[in-house]
Amino acid sequence: MEVLLDTCERRRVRHLLLMYLFVVKAAADCPKPQGKGNIVLTNEALLKNNFPDASSVTFECVNGYVQENGTGIITCVSGTWTEPDIICIKKDCGPPKPQPNMSFNISDGTLFGAVIKVVCAKGYQVIGSSYKQCYSVGWTGRAKCQIVTCRAPDGVTNGKNNWDSSDEPKYGEIIHYDCDEGYTLVGNDEITCSETGEYDSQPPECKGKNDGAVDTNQDNGYIPVIISVVSISIAVPIVVLFLHKYLLKRKGSYDTREDLKPELLQFQNL
Ligand SMILES: *[C@@H]1O[C@H](CO)[C@@H](O)[C@H](O)[C@H]1NC(C)=O
Ligand SMILES: *[C@@H]1O[C@H](CO)[C@@H](O)[C@H](O)[C@H]1NC(C)=O
Ligand SMILES: *[C@@H]1O[C@H](CO)[C@@H](O)[C@H](O)[C@H]1NC(C)=O
Repeated sequence: MEVLLDTCERRRVRHLLLMYLFVVKAAADCPKPQGKGNIVLTNEALLKNNFPDASSVTFECVNGYVQENGTGIITCVSGTWTEPDIICIKKDCGPPKPQPNMSFNISDGTLFGAVIKVVCAKGYQVIGSSYKQCYSVGWTGRAKCQIVTCRAPDGVTNGKNNWDSSDEPKYGEIIHYDCDEGYTLVGNDEITCSETGEYDSQPPECKGKNDGAVDTNQDNGYIPVIISVVSISIAVPIVVLFLHKYLLKRKGSYDTREDLKPELLQFQNL
C-alpha cells in the first residue's frame, strides 16, 4: 500500500515539476517588443521570434528622424522589457548647397518632408527640378540656374550686325547694327537680349535714297528742288533765246517792208 502511494506521489511531484518548469520558463521570456511613435525595431530584431530572459533588442528612429540621444537598447528582465532611452528628432536637411545664381524660398523650413522652391537670379532660368524636398538622405531634386539666351539676331538688308559668334546671345548682351554706305539706319542701332529671352526692340532697317515714295528723309527732300532749279535754269535761257530769235525775225520782216517804204515814198514824192 505504501509503495503504491509512493508511486502515485512521485507521479504528482513529477507532474508539478514539469508544470513549474514550463510556467517559469514562459514567464522568463519577453513578448515581441513593439515600436511606438518615432521608434521602430531594427531589422535584426524584427526577424527574431524568441526573446528569452536577459536578451536585448535594439530600437532605431523611423525614416526621416535621427537619433539624438540614448542607445535604443532594451533588455528583457523577468518577462518585462526595460524602457527604451532612445530620443528621435525630425531630420533637418539644413540650407541646400549654394549654387551660382541660385537662391531658395525656404518658407516651408528645412525639416524632413519640407518642400522648397529653387529661385534663379534675374536673367537666369531653372534647368531641372524647380523644387527640392528634404528626405532622410538629404535634399532631392537636381537643378541649376542657366543664363537666358536669345535666338541669333536677324540680319538687315543693306547693313550688318556685329554678332559673329555661332553661339546664341546671352541675357544682357548687346547687338549693334550698321548700314552700308549710302543707306540710312531707321530704328534703334542696337538691340539687347532681355531676361525673357526676347530682344528689347526690333532690329533697325537700312533705307536707300530712292526707297519708298513717302520718304520724308531730309537728305532726299532737296533733290526735287535741285532738279527744279536746274531745269528752270536750263529752260529759261532756251525760252528767252527762242523768244528773242522770234522777235528778231518779226522785226526783220517788218524792216523789209519798211525798206520798201522809201521807194513807195519816192513814188509818192513823184
Ligand atoms: C543626452 O544624454 C546625456 C547623457 O547620456 C544627457 O546628459 C543629455 O542631457 C541628453 N540630451 C538630451 C537632449 O536629452
Ligand atoms: C551668376 O554667377 C556668376 C558666377 O558665379 C557670377 O559671376 C555672376 O555675377 C552671377 N550673376 C548674377 C546676376 O548673380
Ligand atoms: C515663398 O513661398 C511662399 C509659398 O509658396 C510664398 O508665399 C512666399 O511669398 C515666397 N517668398 C518669396 C520671398 O518669394
